[in-house]
Amino acid sequence: MTLAELDVQHARSVGEVAAAADAAALEQVRVRYLGRNGLIPAVVKQMKDVPQEERPAFGKRAQAWRAALEAALAERQAAFAAAAPKDAPVFDHTLPGRWFAAGSKHPVSRVIEETAAIFARLGFSVADGPDIETRFNNFTALNTPAHHPSMDASDTFWLTDDLLLRTQTSPVQIRMMTRHAPPVRIITPGRTYRRDTTDATHSANFHQIEGLYVDTAPVSLADLKSTLAYFAKEMMGSEAGVRFRPHFFPFTEPSVEVDFSCHMCKGSGCRVCKMSGWIEIAGAGMVDPRVYEHVNRARGDEAYDPAKVYGYAFGFGVERVAMIKYGIPDIRWLYENDMRFLEQLA
Ligand code: DAH
Repeated sequence: MTLAELDVQHARSVGEVAAAADAAALEQVRVRYLGRNGLIPAVVKQMKDVPQEERPAFGKRAQAWRAALEAALAERQAAFAAAAPKDAPVFDHTLPGRWFAAGSKHPVSRVIEETAAIFARLGFSVADGPDIETRFNNFTALNTPAHHPSMDASDTFWLTDDLLLRTQTSPVQIRMMTRHAPPVRIITPGRTYRRDTTDATHSANFHQIEGLYVDTAPVSLADLKSTLAYFAKEMMGSEAGVRFRPHFFPFTEPSVEVDFSCHMCKGSGCRVCKMSGWIEIAGAGMVDPRVYEHVNRARGDEAYDPAKVYGYAFGFGVERVAMIKYGIPDIRWLYENDMRFLEQLA
């Protein structure tokens, strides 16, 4: 190699360093010129063939080339290292995104929250009561005769002679009226307990939502019906309707059972509504004067004078509404915490 050729190679190698697109390309340049079989070691090896008088100059230039190339490589390596720190994650925007398991609300919680939101729009607030109740609140004040079968030990979980796991959310009516003068306008969601054998539609522990509206201004059965009709439409869809059937409950007079029109067949009759077009949802009625009398006795005043107050009450099972709304065929699915079931509402 002549001196002129050496200068050309010098310039080319430094140019290749500048053109290397990444650290791997740079390493290829290094190997090509400085590696064991690289060009510079080869040039040094053939020094002996250079004419004697040119040799010092040739040696100096080759030395300068090596130094310049090493400096250029080091500088560029540093630049690549600074641009891509060693541990920085590589962002590949072509990868599909990762799915974060955000969890979802349980159907029972959904129905409770939706019910609270619907009734909030009608001026109802949410009230709460304990799972352990007194005989008075759960039965006596609700005008349940002393020997009513529902009080039997085969139906109710008694803790003592006086304390029990509440069989309904209705006792919260009594708690509410005992503490607050009319008007009261509440719904009360909560757990309820009965000695029921578990099957597809029964559970010993389930949830109810109770509603109570008592005022000194007239409140009628028609108000109850329009309120529940609004609830049905909001909960089940705008085509849902309600109907009342005469019934009996000790704490309401008159009492009704409330049916929603079947949301599956829109009332024409199907398996879900047993071909009737209607699904039984709630119990309801006008608060019985005997209930007010018990409340007044507990309060020690006449705030709920049966001649002066008007009120309605209703109560329904949360699981039942959830099963109908979401098409869940077995109540046990609501308690098994099977992710395959729960994830479907995510
Ligand atoms: N507590 C009743 C039950 O568990 C449901 C019910 C019926 C509640 C009529 C009411 C009502 O407030 O007025 O079956």
